[in-house]
Amino acid sequence: MKSRDYSQLMQELSEAYAHHSPRSAAIHQTAVQYLVDGGSNALRTIEPFPPRIIAARGAYVTDEDQHQILDFWQGHYANLLGHNPEVVTRALSEAFANGFGLQTGFTDLLQVEVAEMLCRQTGAEQVRFTTSGTLATMYAMMLAKAFTGRNLFMKVGGGWHGGHLWGLKGVGYHEGFKEADSAGLPASVMKEVVITQFNNTEQLEKDFHRYGNKLACFIMEPVIGAGGLMPARREYIQRARELSEHYGVILIFDEVISGFRYRAGNVAALYRVQPDLMTLGKAIGGGMPVAAVAGRRELLQLAGSEHGGKVKFQGGTYAAHPAAMIAAKVFLQYLIENETQIYPRLAELGAKTRKVVTHAFEEEGIHVRFAGDRLTDLPGSSLHMLLFPYQEGLELSTPEEVRNPHVCDITLSEKVLQLALLLEDVFIMHGLGCTTLAHTEADLEYLGEACRRVARRIKPYL
Ligand SMILES: Cc1ncc(COP(=O)(O)O)c(C=O)c1O
Repeated sequence: MKSRDYSQLMQELSEAYAHHSPRSAAIHQTAVQYLVDGGSNALRTIEPFPPRIIAARGAYVTDEDQHQILDFWQGHYANLLGHNPEVVTRALSEAFANGFGLQTGFTDLLQVEVAEMLCRQTGAEQVRFTTSGTLATMYAMMLAKAFTGRNLFMKVGGGWHGGHLWGLKGVGYHEGFKEADSAGLPASVMKEVVITQFNNTEQLEKDFHRYGNKLACFIMEPVIGAGGLMPARREYIQRARELSEHYGVILIFDEVISGFRYRAGNVAALYRVQPDLMTLGKAIGGGMPVAAVAGRRELLQLAGSEHGGKVKFQGGTYAAHPAAMIAAKVFLQYLIENETQIYPRLAELGAKTRKVVTHAFEEEGIHVRFAGDRLTDLPGSSLHMLLFPYQEGLELSTPEEVRNPHVCDITLSEKVLQLALLLEDVFIMHGLGCTTLAHTEADLEYLGEACRRVARRIKPYL
């Protein structure tokens, strides 16, 4: 591995970007006075400053400097139809015009309808809504702990389930995935959270053998997000089900990213594996904050009156918020009714996205790969993490390879590429992001051209 120094390039890009986006630059000066790093989510407060968005429609966002930015981040992968799809905005406008949509503090038919749809499409027996994927995974883990009476949790290295206490170990790569990711965690978290490896069945078997009788749950994403936007191997996921069954461990699939992205339902159905609990978020809200824990009734009922509210998964001022439920209802209905057109088209656009980007870099003599591109277990992905591996011929199907800075040039994919593409009015995250139905063939051609110009710009530094 050569040591690459991007400081001069980043300096040049930053200066060009400050010139390109003077209003966003100026707003950033004020933003950092009142907000930590100028925002409320670390991924959005990119360096040297983020574009400040004033409008969003389809594949594009418009910033304060009036750039039309071709967006592949798409609401943190929440958008399947692009930004502000009419099917959702129309329903919300009509509801607000009729005096319904803000918080009522009551319950309503809407959440029954959404829960029923989710159960039908995912094989879950019951649902409880909350407002974020973070809360959903936290509550799912509490349910598992209460049900089993056990203390340990197992997750995969590189898996992000949100920023709650049990989620903040083994996310970032530090010569592996064993470290705490945050200060301020109770010391018990380090002992209670066991880290296994995604897509490594042998290691999974060893870890179940060692900890199985003490585990409350094994939580994993069937399509890992932060760890590579790549699918689990069929064999891995099926073995996870068998081992969980064998050791009496609750299997939780975190489908906050994958739910409704590959089909109008949970992706686990495509593996023919049913978890005990699943967590859903992002796409199910149609752009509004909706998340859910769904799964076996006997587990969810631990939060109910039947068990005296044993698990305090019961608060949430804004849980199942009326406007969010309106958005979820019309959006899910749209996905279900148009499933046979939407998902093949998403898959086709996803394949085209990877193709144009790969061609652009390879033709300029830069070796690139997409994480998990050799995994054939789940075709049709519209999620993409572009990698710059130092060597050719690698497998690149585990977070241990994909997030390892000795294997892939992480600075290049995460920082340099992002800023260089932003100067081309293209926004990416973690090496690229996701394709939506709003991206046209012409948008993807433009992405290819932009990548080609960026490739020429970065080539001298490699
Ligand atoms: C797989 C997964 N689980 C949970 C979360 C947390 O969701 P939220 O950001 O809605 O709290 C995320 C967010 O990116 C995620 O990708």
